Amino acid sequence: MSEKTATLDLGETKVEFPVHKGTIGPDVVDIRKLYGQSGRFTYDPGFTSTASCESKLTYIDGEEGILLHRGYSIEDLAEDSSFMEVAYLLLNGELPTPDDYDDFTRTITLHTMVHEQLRELYRGFRRDAHPMAIMCGVVGSMSAFYHDSTDIKDPEQRTIASHRLIAKMPTIAAMAFKYAVGQPTLYPDNSLSYTGNFLKMTFGVPAEPYEVNPVVERALDRIFILHADHEQNASTSTVRLAGSSGANPFACIAAGIACLWGPAHGGANEAALNMLKEIGHPSAIPGYIERAKDKNDPFRLMGFGHRVYKNHDPRATVMRKTVREVLGSLGVDDPVFDVALELEEMALNDDYFIEKKLFPNVDFYSGIILSAIGFPTSMFTALFALARTVGWVAQWNEMIEDPDQRIGRPRQLYTGPVQREYLPLEKR
Ligand code: SDX
Repeated sequence: MSEKTATLDLGETKVEFPVHKGTIGPDVVDIRKLYGQSGRFTYDPGFTSTASCESKLTYIDGEEGILLHRGYSIEDLAEDSSFMEVAYLLLNGELPTPDDYDDFTRTITLHTMVHEQLRELYRGFRRDAHPMAIMCGVVGSMSAFYHDSTDIKDPEQRTIASHRLIAKMPTIAAMAFKYAVGQPTLYPDNSLSYTGNFLKMTFGVPAEPYEVNPVVERALDRIFILHADHEQNASTSTVRLAGSSGANPFACIAAGIACLWGPAHGGANEAALNMLKEIGHPSAIPGYIERAKDKNDPFRLMGFGHRVYKNHDPRATVMRKTVREVLGSLGVDDPVFDVALELEEMALNDDYFIEKKLFPNVDFYSGIILSAIGFPTSMFTALFALARTVGWVAQWNEMIEDPDQRIGRPRQLYTGPVQREYLPLEKR
């Protein structure tokens, strides 16, 4: 069956474009020839209607609240899988066999240590440095330590760099936490799971044995699954754009970390918990909801709204269930959770939020669990970056292997001054 086409009638010229069909989801109008044939650009600030690439990794249906990783629903993966299995799935396209799984997790485990000199970098930061500032700097510096995995044209080196990034993020994040609290860092413990090792490096101390709490380990592993990948979000697009210039993988992931830090993106989990603490009590919620609706007030309900989800964020649903499990298991009665539940209830019944299709997103509840486990709010986005590294790395590899791949170079609508004569300083 011949491919569908779309015609753009510009008056003096008509341009016909091929329309490509995905396996599921919206068709795309391939406008690559538009400028060459019409001398015009499209205009789409924020890329609300723009597909930047073809991908087989993650599918989101914002209207139905569906999230699939290589065809598997986030609900099934959160319930039955592990973060390492999801990492294998995103990188390789299929769920691992038991042998594949053992080989993969063993490979990741053997890369968890960082170069001994890289540990010295932390001493250059102030103790009160935000962990994301440290993550940006330390991950970017990895290209100064792992020269044998920076040649992006060599598939072998791409694989080693991918494994190093996934394996070392927990070590780097735990060291950022230890540096902030002034405690000695712990080396990785290869006898533990990926997530159990992270918990021990974060909360363990050399003076005491550390027992991983299996409920906390499972809950955190599930949180990592929920954050693993999310189509072409801002930080993933940043990684792809940086990678399109041929930059080394460590620099690309550092760029993704920088973008994720923004409060409109991954920084929202820290902002959401701070907001819930500021609200403090259900009785204060109506005032904050009014502020969120007030155009003259820059306040927004952090952890609410999403560019793509206009029905519900399936990750928030899983996260809310996990909050109950963790708080119940740890015997934590956190009044902030009551504020969160009441705020969600009131906002979801408010015409403004209904009309604008604003629902709790993945960041709304995650902070409550992370806080109950013992993480300070400043570590929340670092944990998001730890988990999203799997998605960033998978998307980066897919971009490098894409035959359509070219350097990303958007154009603009120019509204600045036309050419004008320069007047020397003495004549102005
Ligand atoms: C993540 O893209 C991804 O997939 C991201 C992510 C991932 O996994 O990678 O899912 C992770 O970043 C989740 C989002 C976390 N951010 C927040 O929770 C911050 C609060 N939310 C927003 O700032 C906002 O909703 C965004 C940034 C998430 C989405 O922004 P959009 O799509 O550009 O929507 P918008 O800012 O144009 O808002 C549309 C309308 C506006 O009102 P009008 O100008 O049309 O009158 O809704 C209003 C906004 O004022 N609005 C809110 C609101 N979010 C949007 N009003 C109050 N509170 C909010 N949270």
